[in-house]
Amino acid sequence: MENGKVEVNIVNLREYGIGKSRQIDDYAFGGGAGMVMMMEPLVNCIEELKKRGEYDEIIYMTPDGKLFDQKTANKFSLQNRLMIICGHYKGIDERVREKYITLELSIGDYVLSGGEIPAAVVTDAIIRLIPGAMNDETSALTDSFQDGLLSPPVYTRPADFEGLKVPEVLLSGNFQKIDEWRLEKAIERTKQRRPDLWKKTL
Ligand code: ADE
Repeated sequence: MENGKVEVNIVNLREYGIGKSRQIDDYAFGGGAGMVMMMEPLVNCIEELKKRGEYDEIIYMTPDGKLFDQKTANKFSLQNRLMIICGHYKGIDERVREKYITLELSIGDYVLSGGEIPAAVVTDAIIRLIPGAMNDETSALTDSFQDGLLSPPVYTRPADFEGLKVPEVLLSGNFQKIDEWRLEKAIERTKQRRPDLWKKTL
């Protein structure tokens, strides 16, 4: 943000709340435990933001959304403006989802108390891909998942720590051999830890 590479604008939905208490949630029609986020504050907020500029996507963070992955992060890092809506309580009124949301995303098969942390997860995954946002520009390209493989093990100095040695090949200076070794280890690790990912990569 300091370098002007990205802008993050956080909006408090309470500002669009109804009445003196700035109400944003209400009981669910049909009964049952838990509150539902009301249409009006959300619609007023979304409409006002849309007036200020066009959005590539209006995303809703929800455990029943599509699983967020590196491919989606890559795609988003090339877009101009994203709006991310964070739900709370039992979620947002279904009609908002039908009318405004272009994509629903989950960060995993577990339920968090709100969409803020999922939104921060998605935001971080996107921003670190923007050129100039990280110190080492090529680093993001060699991340786990970028080539459908987990990352190989990494080591730094000292080469020998109380008898725990760094694999010889990494000290050899032979970069072709090093690349081969890294690929071999990445494949080995992916097969072992994420057979599901390996099947897709094949
Ligand atoms: N909101 C609550 N839990 C969530 C999850 N797992 N992913 C996205 N949004 C959520």
